[in-house]
Amino acid sequence: MEINMDKKYEEDWKNFCDHGDIGDDWCSEEVVQAILTWIKTNIEFDDPILDIGCGNAAFIFQMYHKGYTNVTGIDKSPNAIKLATEISHQECAKVRLEVCNVLGSVPSDAPDSPLNKKYRLVLDKGLYDSVVLASTSTEGSQTKAKHFRDNYVKRTSQLLQPGGILLVATCCHTEEEMKQTIGKNGMQIKYLICDM
Ligand SMILES: C[S@@+](CC[C@H](N)C(=O)[O-])C[C@H]1O[C@@H](n2cnc3c(N)ncnc32)[C@H](O)[C@@H]1O
Repeated sequence: MEINMDKKYEEDWKNFCDHGDIGDDWCSEEVVQAILTWIKTNIEFDDPILDIGCGNAAFIFQMYHKGYTNVTGIDKSPNAIKLATEISHQECAKVRLEVCNVLGSVPSDAPDSPLNKKYRLVLDKGLYDSVVLASTSTEGSQTKAKHFRDNYVKRTSQLLQPGGILLVATCCHTEEEMKQTIGKNGMQIKYLICDM
């Protein structure tokens, strides 16, 4: 069943305003640390980084405080970006946060859109999992999941600089499954397989 993420982030935003609680992270602290360790070894501090489906952007703020200066977060949920923007003020974090659908069309009249830039690292921590999960629980699931995956590969590869890397953290797929479904497209992909 598809979860209405925008509704969830609206609740999280209210919670943040009332109690200062920033909400959940899709991955465990162990996974977050594993991603940060990988980034430390492979990505320069001023490399452009895009977090697709950033949610409350908690991970982006961790990167920012570690010294990464060129980080953008996008999410299709307006309430996620509203919450993330509110938290960014509290964190005094200079990061770019925007409502964008990474699978939607690239705006030809907005050259400054995050979707019209190229990145050294495109990070996906939960978007791939949540969309595949949602598409496989409905009628015509195989076709929907395939359509999503094809579009996902097309759009994420367009966002990468030459030599850029897509990092996908997944709790729902094995490395073998990922390689068979999205890994055969010549794009440089790093998988982080997480325990639920
Ligand atoms: C499971 S949550 C993960 C949030 C965050 N990355 C984390 O690790 O806590 C998946 C996020 O992807 C976003 N999302 C789903 N489809 C998207 C799309 N096509 N474009 C941008 N964001 C999307 C959802 O709104 C949601 O915030």
